Amino acid sequence: MASILVLNGPNLNLLGTREPEIYGSDTLDSIHTKLNSIANEAGHSLRFVQSNAEHELITELHKASEEGVSILIFNPAAFTHTSVALRDAILGTAIPFIEVHLSNIYTREEFRQHSFFSDIAIGVISGLGAQGYELALQAALTQINE
Ligand code: DQA
Repeated sequence: MASILVLNGPNLNLLGTREPEIYGSDTLDSIHTKLNSIANEAGHSLRFVQSNAEHELITELHKASEEGVSILIFNPAAFTHTSVALRDAILGTAIPFIEVHLSNIYTREEFRQHSFFSDIAIGVISGLGAQGYELALQAALTQINE
């Protein structure tokens, strides 16, 4: 049984009501429930975390490394475009990860078109809404089985 962490950055707790024309109407809870059932059915455990604080996300990454998390699905949200500290935390723990964004960051404002994570991710899913998380989990399960 592998352990999978899904880590979500700032303001993603507002999903469902936050700019639904950009982020869709699914809530983070509904995404969590869906992913949990897919992971459990595949015989793996999944932990789902959201934080608005950079230091808490860093602590989660350190904890994930100590606990032997096999793979990470990460939506760093606004920290995607700003956080060298989170990039360093991922590099420091060396946990393989898939970067997910609900919106297509490459069709949005210029400041969103740079990610501090994409060049060190296994892969990036951007613009497919909540389905992006499910697709990332499918890819993570494939990685675990390889
Ligand atoms: C986001 C895109 C980011 O630019 C933004 O700051 C978010 C969410 C996405 O999922 O589309 O908070 O990561």
